[in-house]
Amino acid sequence: MSQDTYKHQFQFDALALDGSYYTLSQNDKQVSRAFIFLSTTCPIAKSYIPELNRITKGLPTGTELFGIISETGTTRQEAVKHFADYEAAFPILFDASHLLSSTLRPTHVPEAFVLDAAGEVVYRGAIDNGYESIGRRRVNVENHYLEEAIAAAATGRKPLVSQTKPVGCVLSPERSYPTIAAVTYARDIAPILQQRCQNCHRPDQVAPFALTNYEEAKTHAEMIVEVTQRRIMPPWIPGPATAHRFVGQRYLSDRELDLLANWVEEGCVLGDEADLPPPPKFAEGWQLGPPDLIVRMPEPFTVPASGPDLMQNFVIPVDIPEDKLVAAVEFHPGNKRVVHHAVLFLDDSGQARKLDAATPEPGYANFGGPGFLPSGALGGWSVGNTARRLPNDMGRYLKKGSDLVVQVHYHPTGKVEVDQSEIGLYFVDKPVEELLKEPAKLVGSIWMANYEMDIPAGEANYRRSTTYTLPKDVIMVGIVPHMHLLGKSMRVTAKQPRKPMEVLIDIPVWDYNWQDEYYYEQPIHLKAGTKIVIDAVFDNSADNPSNPSSPPQRVTWGEETTDEMLFCFFLLTSEKTEDLIYTIFDNLGHDMKQSRKDVSQTP
Ligand code: HEC
Repeated sequence: MSQDTYKHQFQFDALALDGSYYTLSQNDKQVSRAFIFLSTTCPIAKSYIPELNRITKGLPTGTELFGIISETGTTRQEAVKHFADYEAAFPILFDASHLLSSTLRPTHVPEAFVLDAAGEVVYRGAIDNGYESIGRRRVNVENHYLEEAIAAAATGRKPLVSQTKPVGCVLSPERSYPTIAAVTYARDIAPILQQRCQNCHRPDQVAPFALTNYEEAKTHAEMIVEVTQRRIMPPWIPGPATAHRFVGQRYLSDRELDLLANWVEEGCVLGDEADLPPPPKFAEGWQLGPPDLIVRMPEPFTVPASGPDLMQNFVIPVDIPEDKLVAAVEFHPGNKRVVHHAVLFLDDSGQARKLDAATPEPGYANFGGPGFLPSGALGGWSVGNTARRLPNDMGRYLKKGSDLVVQVHYHPTGKVEVDQSEIGLYFVDKPVEELLKEPAKLVGSIWMANYEMDIPAGEANYRRSTTYTLPKDVIMVGIVPHMHLLGKSMRVTAKQPRKPMEVLIDIPVWDYNWQDEYYYEQPIHLKAGTKIVIDAVFDNSADNPSNPSSPPQRVTWGEETTDEMLFCFFLLTSEKTEDLIYTIFDNLGHDMKQSRKDVSQTP
């Protein structure tokens, strides 16, 4: 992918005048998008609203159209009034901080941009040839450039005309994408906190304080700059090194980082309250609609006020009449203050029930994994995540009679908390036998590990790698890197035959607390013969604040808090189900051949 196309894969989301969010940073639905820069003052821009309403009515499926108001000098309230008066029937993004205009760089209003599903600008310029020049209107409008470009992008072809000269009011760079100056809370900061932080930083959520108003933001101002610059917040550990984007990624753009820093540097100015966005609406209840099956932890679990984090496994029988493919799971923490993340394993052997029966409390404790070899997994959940279905009737196999084993990671909060979480299961609505005959429906997992681990006490850069070559063509849907508390960084690459090496995930600074399951926005097709390489680094020095031993101890492979692991799961599907099954068995064989020389026994 060239630098140029990457530029228009937005690193930010947008807030419309009516308070709706548009996740421009995400395009897992593969839509093409039209953006039209407008103005509340320019007469030509105003005159085009009825035409844009007409185009909106006939928009092809898989296309989004947005008006944008990006000029300085117009408050949000003024913009709301203006577009209500003109009865605009399409969403208007209030680009208060010039995130969009500094990316697309319009020179006029109105000026239209059409981006295809890959984010490439396939058209920019006038909406149509209705104006010869300013003040000279054509009687007959023959060329509907914008409409034609939208139709072209929707069908994946290039438009006949890719650029025209916009006619309208000149947008000087100072007005449309000024260098950052005079940052205010109302205009610039509130939208960032709403979209990027309040998912967790609002009352009764997992974050320790709310960031929902000016006072709260001001109180934590210096800390906000510190944690955003260091990319500790919003929590998202993969770095930008891969061209493959992840679903739900939380990565602040450079401009957002600068806005936060400049705001604090300039003394946390409140600004004009007429710019304040409407408060966000957070979805309550099941986000994916009513689940096909809801299961619940059998008993409430009590988390003590203090002490180390807890990893408790709960065994929940799943009562289904036949095998199913699971398209999505939605985890509902019973107590959002204390539940940090959850991983869902499957057990069809009864081992988890035995482990549970052997301890008096609800569930049983185990740090690294579930404490047995699971027969499958259904993914995970971590705070702030949005549940999503796998696309196109894809799903993970759930065998009738299996137990769901939910490992919940609890962070003590300072007072005793009680949790009883629920899980909603969403099945693919077709018989499993039929689905297995279709291409790319079954999602299975393979893994790579390096079991030979012997990290000397004090070693700050202990390196371990592992490789695996795919025996068949597969489609990679997701990736789940896993290390324990000494993990420092991990990078996973793929080298396909006759293609340059590509990065599948890069985690420059590992954080055990924020590990997650990562789904690719666009699944990656990998040819047979692709060599996958994992390089990981571990820090067993006293400088690693997460080091569970003080002073540091020699550490070897294992599942305890004080042991280490190098693991990565891959979620795969395949055009042919038999290729996926073949790959899963090949991978098992490969794993059996990995050295398990018990390094803890060697002197
Ligand atoms: C996915 C949930 C989530 C999101 C999104 C999030 N935070 Fe946090 N934040 C937390 C949690 C949880 C903590 C407590 C520390 C921890 O567990 O890592 C925290 C802690 C903090 C702290 C205190 C850090 C410290 O060490 O004392 C600041 C400041 C902060 N967040 C700012 C932000 C800002 C600014 C944003 C948005 C740009 C943001 N957070 C987004 C969950 C979140």
